[in-house]
Amino acid sequence: MEKTINRLSGLLAGAALLGLAMPAAHAADAVKVGLMLPATGTYAKLGTAITNGFKLYADENGGKIGGVTVEYSMVDDESDPAKATENANKLVKRDAVDVLVGTVHSGVAMAMAKVARGTKTLMIVPNAGADELTGPLCAPNIFRTSFTNWQPSYAMGPVLLGKGVKKVVTLTWKYSAGLQAIDGFKESFTAGGGEIVKELTLPFPNTEFQPYLTEIASLKPDAVFVFFAGGGAVKLAKDYAAAGLKDSIPLYGSGFLTDGTLDAMGGAGEGLLTTLHYADGLDNAKDKAFRAAYEKAYGMAPDVYAVQGYDAAQLLAAGLTAVQGKVEDRQGMIKAMEAAHIDSPRGTFSMSAAHNPVQDIYLREAKGSVNPVVSVASKALADPARGCSMQ
Ligand code: PHB
Repeated sequence: MEKTINRLSGLLAGAALLGLAMPAAHAADAVKVGLMLPATGTYAKLGTAITNGFKLYADENGGKIGGVTVEYSMVDDESDPAKATENANKLVKRDAVDVLVGTVHSGVAMAMAKVARGTKTLMIVPNAGADELTGPLCAPNIFRTSFTNWQPSYAMGPVLLGKGVKKVVTLTWKYSAGLQAIDGFKESFTAGGGEIVKELTLPFPNTEFQPYLTEIASLKPDAVFVFFAGGGAVKLAKDYAAAGLKDSIPLYGSGFLTDGTLDAMGGAGEGLLTTLHYADGLDNAKDKAFRAAYEKAYGMAPDVYAVQGYDAAQLLAAGLTAVQGKVEDRQGMIKAMEAAHIDSPRGTFSMSAAHNPVQDIYLREAKGSVNPVVSVASKALADPARGCSMQ
């Protein structure tokens, strides 16, 4: 018997020396992570930051998450909902990943969630805010480490009311992230007596803003509230300033407008007030350590997307640690992830019953390249999770 084993291990060692494939020798000790994120298009930078954040956590832990070696499969989803189901199936069926991590765009994430629900694959959303993911589409195997579209925008209503703003025009891309972000703002702003004079939209990812800026100039609201992100956010801030509106009609938005975009705006973002679940200059040890490690690894400052990617890895670590790395114990992992208190660079957060972060939303003011905290706009804000029934 011993002889047989010795002969077998000799054969395997020989195969390894010859560079032959060792049939799944390490697969049982590895967790397969499918990263489905944009690598091209207006959200490309966001996808890179999420990937960087996720990998930073694994790299800090010797290439492991929760004690298990990570293997990555990656797909560029191009922020294209039409390709989303096929892309998610590539990861789940072809690559047999244990966990799907993605994505940035709400419409793409909803298609992914349907694949995850149908195949019962564990899914962690490191950005997309689609309210449905932790609403009508909520499921035991779907978690989010970012926000709902409702959350950051809802927090801005009282801020503007407090400044005496009464009439607002909104402007966004016409897809779920933009529309739900505007709805969140509208809910708290109108509940406090504010009025939405006009809701302007343009198709995603168009950036021909001129006609909308002309209309805003003629409507003369007290303020404008927007949702834009990535390359589109840069263009909007620049065009808004160039149209001469910045000083006459203050521009506000959820913090995606100014996170990771200020340098590219070349000064057009200076002074903009936004609300988000992350900010620069947060006084916590985790943020300081994270920022230093991220700068060292990637030679640039992290943004909210990097934080969300890092926290996706931290949430997975909470699950895998609880089951001693036995990735097939999904019930055990889910239970631990539900109970997790994530020590995030944004401040510690917990999971709501719908699997979405319960978190502080900060008011920030853009200064140079950064968005320092002005105040906490909403403490421990939980999404209402309308339509979620876990089963
Ligand atoms: C989304 O589509 O949900 C989305 C995209 C970019 C952001 C935030 C939300 O910065």
